[in-house]
Amino acid sequence: MMTMKIIILLILLLAPIPMAIACPGVPSLGSAAACLKACGTKYAYDLCINTMQRSGMDPCPSHTVVATVYAVVAARVAEASYEDTMLALNTQLQQNGSLSGDERDAYRGCLGDYTAAESSIERAAERMASSCDLGGLGNEFRGGMMSLEGCRDRLLSPWIYPSPMYPLVMGNRDKVLVAYLLAKLLGI
Ligand SMILES: *[C@@H]1O[C@H](CO)[C@@H](O)[C@H](O)[C@H]1NC(C)=O
Repeated sequence: MMTMKIIILLILLLAPIPMAIACPGVPSLGSAAACLKACGTKYAYDLCINTMQRSGMDPCPSHTVVATVYAVVAARVAEASYEDTMLALNTQLQQNGSLSGDERDAYRGCLGDYTAAESSIERAAERMASSCDLGGLGNEFRGGMMSLEGCRDRLLSPWIYPSPMYPLVMGNRDKVLVAYLLAKLLGI
């Protein structure tokens, strides 16, 4: 019994923080194959391949890993780009003297939307990386995407001249879409 505990302790200490665990029914595949399987359109496929390249995933078809790795990586990529957008929104609010009152309101509202979207994607990434019980994860993704759409709609207000923030929000929407499509490979 004691030896068992020591062995478990050793495993815990020696193992690197697992980026993803193996769950029943989750396929192992190459990164391009994962993108092809996950994405039903050329647009999403290209975005997916781009995400894989940017996060340094091995493009070699013979390099296969469990699909969870790709879904977690894509979720982390989306999360990092949310942070960039929040920083850009804050910078605009603090430094751009030519923002109208409507723009200020929209940007502040967007910061709230992004806070919600970020906690969704963060929870999703953590659950995928640490548990095989992914019930409700689809709702987590969809909720996060709806938060981003809330921000997009604020920026489409008729009183706002095309905002420099708009392309950032659309880019974030693409990134979370890729993460969601890859997460579907886990059976969510
Ligand atoms: C400041 O805000 C205006 C109005 O949205 C925008 O057109 C302009 O590009 C912004 N300036 C900078 C430096 O981002």
